[in-house]
Amino acid sequence: MLELKNIKKAFGDCVANDDVSLTVHKGTIHAIVGENGAGKSTAMKIVYGFYTPDGGEIILNGNAVTIKNPHDAIALGIGMVHQHFMLVDTMTAAENIVLGAETGSAASLDLEKANAEIQTLSDELKLGVNPRSVIEDLSVGQQQRVELLKALYRNADTLILDEPTAVLSPQEVEEFFGILRRMKEQGKTIIIITHKLDEVLAISDEVTVMRDGKTVGHVQTAETSAKDLARMIVGRDVLLRVEKTDASPTATVLEVKDLRVGGKHGASLNGVSFSVKAGEIVGVAGIEGNGQTELIEALAGLAKPSGGSIEFDGKDVTNCSARELKELGIAHIPEDRHKRGLLLSSALTENSILGVHYRPPITASSGLMSAAAIGKRCGEIIDNFDVRPGDSSQPAKSLSGGNQQKLIIGREFGLKPKLLLVSQPTRGVDIGAIEFIHKKLIGLRDAGSAVLLVSAELEEVTALADRLLIIREGKIVGEVDPKTASTEDIGLLMTGGE
Ligand SMILES: Nc1ncnc2c1ncn2[C@@H]1O[C@H](COP(=O)(O)OP(=O)(O)O)[C@@H](O)[C@H]1O
Ligand SMILES: [Mg+2]
Repeated sequence: MLELKNIKKAFGDCVANDDVSLTVHKGTIHAIVGENGAGKSTAMKIVYGFYTPDGGEIILNGNAVTIKNPHDAIALGIGMVHQHFMLVDTMTAAENIVLGAETGSAASLDLEKANAEIQTLSDELKLGVNPRSVIEDLSVGQQQRVELLKALYRNADTLILDEPTAVLSPQEVEEFFGILRRMKEQGKTIIIITHKLDEVLAISDEVTVMRDGKTVGHVQTAETSAKDLARMIVGRDVLLRVEKTDASPTATVLEVKDLRVGGKHGASLNGVSFSVKAGEIVGVAGIEGNGQTELIEALAGLAKPSGGSIEFDGKDVTNCSARELKELGIAHIPEDRHKRGLLLSSALTENSILGVHYRPPITASSGLMSAAAIGKRCGEIIDNFDVRPGDSSQPAKSLSGGNQQKLIIGREFGLKPKLLLVSQPTRGVDIGAIEFIHKKLIGLRDAGSAVLLVSAELEEVTALADRLLIIREGKIVGEVDPKTASTEDIGLLMTGGE
């Protein structure tokens, strides 16, 4: 169906695609995997006419084609759903779908006809999209289906999906894979970019692996394994399991008693009590939105408790500010790295000193900031946490998600915290960096810090935690030993099932 031959593409000095060659067979689901920054999105945007390649060939159904813009791609039957949706929030699904696809004058646009056609398409694939609903009222998963319909409405028979599952809950992923299978039955060819190996194994027929702008492998899914794929992706063996010794907890560092936080719609944290000792990782598992965010924000001084107490190192800190808590030795790796963790437009240097920018050695008692101290701190983070590319003058937004995360982790570890609060440490991070981050967290524990870890990834939190608390509806509903508890048991506690 589609063949790329020796595709090259550079952005200034950055070679995004060095030598990309791959073959996608008609009627298959083809996965493209690789670490953040490997060049996957760039290659697929070239196919969709978003970028013009600097070299190489695109062959579609046996013919060399030139795709100058998305219009050309659509005319050739290629559709793409981007990582970030491109929908107008205030318009209906149908309006978004026909936008730009209407033939003839705008006056002749027949929205009723479009509504009917889109309804039919949606029904065929069991998408459950109502063409008349307004985008801003739809969940992320539903918006994604509108994007799919947009491509299908334009008669795409090859669909490129860029990390479609990153925004979906595990339940939605299952439904989404059902849709992909139905599209495949209809004869569509699907290219899916993901870095989740279990998803690759579950949905694809063939896999192409990219590393550093090159395609480095091509395998039949049935003939590969997570371990083999991980090795091809990273270029070395990767530990897919966390390796750690038993914890040796010592003194209690954090003591939370009956903590309550009010929310927009009533209480979001409903009287939570637990403690964390030095030298242990306490995990908090739960379905997102059950009070995890409020818990961590209250502990980090970012949300005001409405009741209960927080004791840190034997001292009552219930009403301390974020800055006071940081000074006492509490570091925080937030769940939303863009909102809470980084100044995206500022350089790595500036990001590396957030939270300590006002005190020595960064700012001297004279009030002057030391460029040397800033450079040293930033350099240490880049070196010790393997932030790539390590150009400290670049803005944080130029880094991939995984490298942004390593920058934040490096900064917070640099505080030598007695207590680390960490949420979703590896969300959107590729497997090489996940292994790295996990090792660092275990290392911090072994150096005697207390760690409170919240993660929506059950596998991650059970692998890292020494003790596991389950949170539901703002309450701790159970504590289990992560070494012996089964996923089913934890799942039941999380959902409140019998
Ligand atoms: N528009 C762009 N301008 C400059 N650099 C870019 C642009 N798009 C991608 N890059 C760079 O190209 C490399 C490959 O990026 P990308 O194709 O997005 O990787 P992937 O999708 O595999 O994570 C990265 O180093 C990225 O920073
Ligand atoms: Mg990408």
